Amino acid sequence: MKNGLALFLGVFAILGLSWAGLLLGAHKQLGSLGQIKDPVDDTLYPQPISGLADQGRLVYQDLGCVSCHTQQVRHEGFGADIERKWGSRGSYARDYIREKTVFIGQSRLGPDLRNVGGRLGDAATPDDYSDWFYKLLYAPQSVAPGTNMPPHAFLFEVHATAGRQISYQALKLTGKSAPATGYEVVPTARARALVAYLQSLKDTYDYPTERSLNASAPAEHAEEGGHK
Ligand code: HEC
Repeated sequence: MKNGLALFLGVFAILGLSWAGLLLGAHKQLGSLGQIKDPVDDTLYPQPISGLADQGRLVYQDLGCVSCHTQQVRHEGFGADIERKWGSRGSYARDYIREKTVFIGQSRLGPDLRNVGGRLGDAATPDDYSDWFYKLLYAPQSVAPGTNMPPHAFLFEVHATAGRQISYQALKLTGKSAPATGYEVVPTARARALVAYLQSLKDTYDYPTERSLNASAPAEHAEEGGHK
């Protein structure tokens, strides 16, 4: 072949340039995102999560919670996530920089969990709320009757109390899900880590650098007035 070398160099250049465009372009845009220091409270955001919560992240990954739950709040105009109170703002790329594996997910059989640690529900304190999480994992019907959330009772141990005082960690269960008299239900280390992880999920900080990215999408068909 006469122009073999030119052909080879041409193909090489095309592949090389597309590789650079895809990888380096994305890296330039997202790879260098870092924490931001708030000038008022002198704290870095996103804040690092505790060691226990980080272990819980692996339990979340291991149990496949991502198959039913997303972790991405859509921005206003792109869905009803904010109206559903799944977050006070849409998610930014910077929210995820502390995570080695990001569980964005794509199926929403259950609610988005990106801010589940910030939703206190009816609970008065975060402690009451951790009890709610344990009950949801052990016997979902006890806190959300009629729910499709599968029980994860294998994350708990049922002990005979054998006349001893019950553990401070024992779940306060009533009704059908309560253990037989003389028994208590105690979370295992995996359950404790998982709940610490769920409680660490809250992206509430409003980054001054990202605020402009949170503008709502242009209204669809705005100019078509009266169109059904
Ligand atoms: C088969 C799908 C499915 C799987 C797998 C699943 N969930 Fe759920 N989850 C649901 C559904 C459905 C709900 C809605 C409960 C309701 O009706 O209020 C829910 C609710 C929740 C809630 C309450 C959210 C809120 O805002 O009230 C939490 C927390 C939760 N799930 C955590 C988990 C964790 C952690 C795992 C993995 C161990 C997991 N889920 C696995 C379906 C699932």
